[in-house]
Amino acid sequence: MAEIIDGKKISQDLKDEVKAQVAELKSKGIEVTLAVILVGNDPASTVYVGNKKKACEYTGINSRSYELPEETTQEELLSLIKELNEDDAVDGILVQLPLPKHIDEDKVIRSISPDKDVDGFHPESVGRLSIGAKGFVSCTPAGVIELLKRSGTEMDGANAVVVGRSNIVGKPMSVLLLRENATVTICHSHTKNLKDICKAADILVVAIGQPKFIDGSYIKEGATVIDVGIHRIEGTKKLCGDVDYDSASEVAGKITPVPGGVGPMTIAELMNNCLQSALMKQ
Ligand code: GUN
Repeated sequence: MAEIIDGKKISQDLKDEVKAQVAELKSKGIEVTLAVILVGNDPASTVYVGNKKKACEYTGINSRSYELPEETTQEELLSLIKELNEDDAVDGILVQLPLPKHIDEDKVIRSISPDKDVDGFHPESVGRLSIGAKGFVSCTPAGVIELLKRSGTEMDGANAVVVGRSNIVGKPMSVLLLRENATVTICHSHTKNLKDICKAADILVVAIGQPKFIDGSYIKEGATVIDVGIHRIEGTKKLCGDVDYDSASEVAGKITPVPGGVGPMTIAELMNNCLQSALMKQ
């Protein structure tokens, strides 16, 4: 049976490290502040934003909340972001996605100063990541790297396979693994022989958005499996990932559960990005 990579524990450790550093800054009179913008009242987004605010409270980061009505215009939103970009007291700006249909998401992301882009979604942040320059890294893939490091998974020279090529997870994930000196293969819906490629992976990161798509037959004996997916199992209150945990954990060496794997790391990394933003300003 595979060893479980405990994302709850690892994210708690990371949040405690952030908390200690935030307290140290506070003792020098420096505050860390995140501005969180939510437009409309999408139920899932409301829960995510609530969790982000709770994590701020825990780590001692100030959270400024902007809960705007659904009918907010793009101009109003852009004007708020401009104000926050110019406000020296604000270290990070987070616009919860998705935005209402009448607002151009890409334009909004581009309007956030790359120096405050704690989500790492701005094209400049993506560019900095791809050339190895300093900048913010998208929180979920950053969290996966932390899970691999803190579970003692060797990345240097490892054969890493990323299934999924989204801008938020798959692409930055592969760049980060490359930065750790892994040999990286990216697979997607047009990939031929997906199973053979996955079966050659020492590290398999799955982010395809399809429940239980990858089962034990895709996994090499002893491989480390990271499941980024999260789905509600139909007709139940239970959650599952993109990986069929029961069969995969029979073959893998280490595996992340869902829930309690990658999920909690995302918010911990967001807190870390806010702290890093404040430190960079010093
Ligand atoms: N919506 C779903 N995930 C995310 C995220 O990581 N950041 C933002 N801003 N919105 C999201």
